Amino acid sequence: MPVSPLHAPLLDWYAAHARDLPWRQPGVSAWDVLVSEVMLQQTPVARVLPVWLEWTARWPTAAALAAEAPGEAVRAWGRLGYPRRALRLHAAAVVVTEQHGGELPDELAALRTLPGVGAYTAAAVLSFAHGRRHAVLDTNVRRVLARVGDGVENAGPSATAAEYARAEALLPDDPGEAARWAVATMELGALVCTARAPRCSECPVADACRWRAAGYPAAQTQARRP
Ligand code: ADE
Repeated sequence: MPVSPLHAPLLDWYAAHARDLPWRQPGVSAWDVLVSEVMLQQTPVARVLPVWLEWTARWPTAAALAAEAPGEAVRAWGRLGYPRRALRLHAAAVVVTEQHGGELPDELAALRTLPGVGAYTAAAVLSFAHGRRHAVLDTNVRRVLARVGDGVENAGPSATAAEYARAEALLPDDPGEAARWAVATMELGALVCTARAPRCSECPVADACRWRAAGYPAAQTQARRP
């Protein structure tokens, strides 16, 4: 697509304000990125951080995890909640080790066959770990795009094919920049364009936001806005 006027302000904001999270560091393996995404599926960043650090130090590869008993994975999952995720991650490690030579696949269809890897997680791994140009739609990104692009407070209950197509069209052409854009929109939704208390005065794309231009129409009840 032609360069969007949203790209530069949001990418600059991300460079200045993003949290320094270890799974975003250059050189982190694709497997460790998958581990972070599975942990973050249902658990906040602050609780994931210590467990991810311990887990990736103990099992730096899929093969290392696959060699353990599944119960060890559940034990190491600690208090992250939804411990079936630990079992699925262990099962994914076995598949990656036995069928993919220990390397996490870099194709959407192959990633989707792994236990515990749905559309969001596969897209996140493609983008963040493999640097592919691929839309990544989690709750935060969908809320940002609904507000900025559609002028409504919230996205619908689940991501539609049309939403994916529009998010894809908004990606910068360069794959590295597209991956940064994907994580930048996620970060904006987590830190600024939050569900209940958006900080629009700090938003780098406020001037282009259709929700703001429309006077912050509420999805249900009218709340006071910044
Ligand atoms: N960075 C990359 N993926 C993330 C996620 N799912 N949540 C928070 N930060 C992330």
